[in-house]
Amino acid sequence: MFRAKIAGIGHYVPDNIVTNDDLAKVMETSDEWVRERTGIEQRRYATKHKETTTTMGARAAEKALAQAGVDKNEVDFIIFATLSPDYYFPGCGVLLQRELGITKTEIGALDIRNQCSGFVYGLSIADQFVRTGMYKNVLLVGAEMHSMGLDFSTRGRNVTVIFGDGAGAVLVQPTEEDNQGILTTKLHSDGTYAEKLAFINPGAHGGYHHEQAGEEYDYGYPGPDVRGEMFITPHMLENGQYYPNMEGQFVFKLAVRKFPEVIKEALDDAGLSFGDIDMLVPHQANLRISQFVQKTLRLRDDQVWNNIQKYGNTTAASIPIALSEAVEAGAVKRGDLVCLAAFGSGFTWGSALIRW
Ligand SMILES: CC(C)(COP(=O)(O)OP(=O)(O)OC[C@H]1O[C@@H](n2cnc3c(N)ncnc32)[C@H](O)[C@@H]1OP(=O)(O)O)[C@@H](O)C(=O)NCCC(=O)NCCS
Repeated sequence: MFRAKIAGIGHYVPDNIVTNDDLAKVMETSDEWVRERTGIEQRRYATKHKETTTTMGARAAEKALAQAGVDKNEVDFIIFATLSPDYYFPGCGVLLQRELGITKTEIGALDIRNQCSGFVYGLSIADQFVRTGMYKNVLLVGAEMHSMGLDFSTRGRNVTVIFGDGAGAVLVQPTEEDNQGILTTKLHSDGTYAEKLAFINPGAHGGYHHEQAGEEYDYGYPGPDVRGEMFITPHMLENGQYYPNMEGQFVFKLAVRKFPEVIKEALDDAGLSFGDIDMLVPHQANLRISQFVQKTLRLRDDQVWNNIQKYGNTTAASIPIALSEAVEAGAVKRGDLVCLAAFGSGFTWGSALIRW
């Protein structure tokens, strides 16, 4: 069996910078509130009608391929992680193939919907395919265009101020070097609290979970008997029931427990400890969460990469953007032990240990 390594990495963020003060012009919020609670100072928004999740992913992928010195037509498998796809279906994987101009069809394209842990899940999938020798060039992309689906009224402020757009990509290849590559990945899920951080409509649920719980469900017009119209109703549109919702404090409390747990699990598996980590790249959910994790693991500031201040939470793109920046800045060097960790909607969470 081979081991898999990250042979190339790249990221792309749109030019358009949106500050907290910009958001305060359209909703009741303030720079002070957002900075204090999340650490976020600004985020990027894609240009409407010009950019999409796929096009941003493609720009990041081109950089990853260039760094690896691999031609687009040598890619044999695409994994695309996003919660904000261009279309409900087909997924962004095939759209990325087209956008990159990959014409060969002897290639697989897979979309994964694991939200904030999407990149770690994708890396684990890529790792398995490469280790078994099935594929030699797996292109993994995490990209999000949140700005198209957020509620910019005060009603949505707790969610909207957090999220930003962007993309990151890696090319995963086999390596025969002894001390290099992905050492281990750990994946977890718990669907008990699926609705605590969710984007529910449009969907096929038709109020199912509310019925099961004996709760009255607001179907809105026209009610549950008109099947075709349950997916998205005028009522949902009128009442803004097509935005993400989040119980922030619930998510926060669980995240600060799960990050250290899943990092320790990976380290134990590799026979290593917290002190061996050269660079922790946590999913950029909230600076306060990262600081809490840093404290628990007793890591110095230069052992944790944070960039949420500039980009907000870019969900599936957050880890590859942060890792790409850390590599670009020379903060991650050959031989370093890099730890990736994520927690998010599902809930799903995971970690990866990489000898760079
Ligand atoms: C979202 C989050 C920043 C909110 O911070 P919080 O301290 O939990 O704040 P709360 O939601 O309890 O709201 C506190 C008050 O601020 C208000 N508020 C919420 N968003 C606000 C905003 N953007 N601006 C100003 N006030 C806001 C609330 O309405 C509430 O007001 P009230 O006390 O009058 O009812 C925080 O819970 C968080 O980051 N959670 C984790 C989220 C996360 O990581 N999600 C992604 C997972 S990958």
